[in-house]
Amino acid sequence: MNITRRPRRNRQSEVIRNLTEETQVSVKDLIFPLFLTEGQNKKIAIASMPNMYRLSLDYLLKEIEECIDLGIKAFAPFPQIEEDLKDAYAKESYNPNGLYLKAIREIKKHFPEVCLFTDVAMDPYSSDGHDGIVRNGQILNDETLEVLGKMALAQAEAGADMVAPSDMMDGRVGYLRQVLDNNGFTNVGILAYTAKYASAFYGPFRDALDSAPKFGDKKTYQMNPTNVKEALIEAELDYAEGADLLMVKPALPYLDVIKTLHDNFHLPIAAYNVSGEYAMIKAASEKGWIDGKKAMLECLTSIRRAGAKIILTYFAKEFSLLQKS
Ligand code: PBG
Repeated sequence: MNITRRPRRNRQSEVIRNLTEETQVSVKDLIFPLFLTEGQNKKIAIASMPNMYRLSLDYLLKEIEECIDLGIKAFAPFPQIEEDLKDAYAKESYNPNGLYLKAIREIKKHFPEVCLFTDVAMDPYSSDGHDGIVRNGQILNDETLEVLGKMALAQAEAGADMVAPSDMMDGRVGYLRQVLDNNGFTNVGILAYTAKYASAFYGPFRDALDSAPKFGDKKTYQMNPTNVKEALIEAELDYAEGADLLMVKPALPYLDVIKTLHDNFHLPIAAYNVSGEYAMIKAASEKGWIDGKKAMLECLTSIRRAGAKIILTYFAKEFSLLQKS
């Protein structure tokens, strides 16, 4: 055959394959989400998320220490709040003696070197299970911002390095930036959940936190999965309002959205490889239907290849262990 171009030449050996490799995932790219629960000496399995646990603070601190040794330096804790502490206004979210704020202070006291991303959203604390204040079945935008402002300020005071609003209310990035700046927290950053879709892939996370909406769905604030131009509008707003990082969530069904934001914005793009994406790989690999480790690597790499520099992923620890071995 007279074939001049033979792409297979660059795949002939491990060495040439490594030399021509275009995309790498490093443990430095990863943020590890963790679940925090009340009490002591608790490590409660989450059925739909094998290897992930609801941890009491003592265990959470141990887990972070182990992860630091593996090279993971960025963490995003989420709290599981007891049902009787939830109310319509998520007041527990800015109780300085509450579970989450106490944990933030402790984490930063023990490990000042980590970068701590704190979750700004009402749903873990809301008796309605929504990310906003509910009145007559409607989610109130501007009233919700005031709650988010109090929450973000309390988190900054507790030591958060970056606050991460995951609620999708309009104007929240600008509002939080103003609240933080007015209180002297100009160095606290904002990781904006810029394009957060109304997705079926959040189920295991809501199991872990008991945070599922008590009625209806989140379609009046989370985005329609069909839309990518709308993601550009959200990104323009978040950029203009002062976001430091723009995030797409979920990751794998939205690689095109990651790529679009990457190509159109100069801020680093993050992607949230969410609970359902994690659960799918875990479930199929437990059944022996796919090689879980290879599938993990392939997925994380594809998220990086699409243009995300930062990946929030429940695979962070497993990935770092694999790198070490
Ligand atoms: C909501 C929030 C969600 C997740 C984190 N914060 C989604 C939701 O419940 O609507 C999902 C993360 C995951 O699935 O891993 N503030």
